[in-house]
Amino acid sequence: MHSYNAPMSRVPQPLKDGAPLAAQAALARPGLDVNGLGGPIPDLGTVLAPIAADMQAVDAVIRERLNSDVALVNTISDYIIGAGGKRLRPAVVLLVARALGYKGTSHVLLAAVIEFIHTATLLHDDVVDESDLRRGRSTANAMFGNAASVLVGDFLYSRAFQMMVDAGNLRVMRILADATNRIAEGEVLQLMSVHDPSVNEARYFEVVERKTATLFEAGARIAAVLAAADATTEQRCASYGASLGRAFQIVDDMLDYSGHTEEIGKRLGDDLREGKVTLPLIHVLRSAAPEQRELVVQAVRDGNGDFEAIARIVTDNGSIAYSGRLAEREVDAARQAIRDLPASDHRESLLHLLAFAIGRDR
Ligand code: IPE
Ligand code: IPE
Ligand code: MG
Ligand code: MG
Repeated sequence: MHSYNAPMSRVPQPLKDGAPLAAQAALARPGLDVNGLGGPIPDLGTVLAPIAADMQAVDAVIRERLNSDVALVNTISDYIIGAGGKRLRPAVVLLVARALGYKGTSHVLLAAVIEFIHTATLLHDDVVDESDLRRGRSTANAMFGNAASVLVGDFLYSRAFQMMVDAGNLRVMRILADATNRIAEGEVLQLMSVHDPSVNEARYFEVVERKTATLFEAGARIAAVLAAADATTEQRCASYGASLGRAFQIVDDMLDYSGHTEEIGKRLGDDLREGKVTLPLIHVLRSAAPEQRELVVQAVRDGNGDFEAIARIVTDNGSIAYSGRLAEREVDAARQAIRDLPASDHRESLLHLLAFAIGRDR
């Protein structure tokens, strides 16, 4: 039996075209304030300053728990973890725990667990997506091959499970086990939809819910459980995480068309090459002129369309801006969800993390 119901009920509805365009300019020009938080897009280091010591402790746990007697496991896990990454999911665990007054130390271990699960999904995802660039370096699959990447992904998943057993909290284990299972479902669901131009927003959000929002949600929820928060607070923190996760994936999908490789550390156009119909394309397929639509349909079907041409269509059609508005809506929901948490630097950082997620260029 599941101890909590993952919220599939809140599938976002399409926005009407022409809705207010607060995010558009700022998304095109990161650095502007897009969400009324009264300032430019915050620098991640500044946002995470209140948990700097905890983040260092997470880093130490990650390094300590990566070890294996099998050399290739160490080589590949060091390779991907050593490349960095924004560490947003562990940050959510730490910030929520601290915002709720948690004084123990298990949040550090569990933040590392979440980063291991995330990293395992990336190793697998890059094999499935046939990606060759991540975190500014060749992907593990490009360097060491698909088989090694998948197997080291399995190592990281199973190490994460050993660590969560060490944390010794059955409720937390159940949340993380359920989340990991749903991420796998998300990736399979996505696989079932590639090269299919009929994918709509409902299907897109079903995938996003599972493959991305779930882990952010689980991170926020386990932090609330650790802090012994009441059920309402726990649910609000979980909603914050889920909305942040949805916004985060929407922006990732926008950046796949509109970002810069040097900043995102990934190759632009991976989604189009893979035949993945993400929100920007869904919007094009719904609203562009017939000949542009036809170009996109063909590109989705064959996976070898002209990326530059299609990226231009996506932008000129207002589809990046449209996606930005949906991301902004998620950010609003996330902000609402933590409105009643006690005021603290940690709560401020959770708000600034929303601004970062939507305004980011990496
Ligand atoms: C990439 O996540 C996968 C998505 C859910 C879009 P991140 O952008 O958080 O990856 P790193 O850890 O910072 O590299
Ligand atoms: C997110 O999807 C992957 C996972 C949550 C595992 P993407 O395929 O868009 O992620 P990137 O762009 O490769 O990081
Ligand atoms: Mg991918
Ligand atoms: Mg992506």
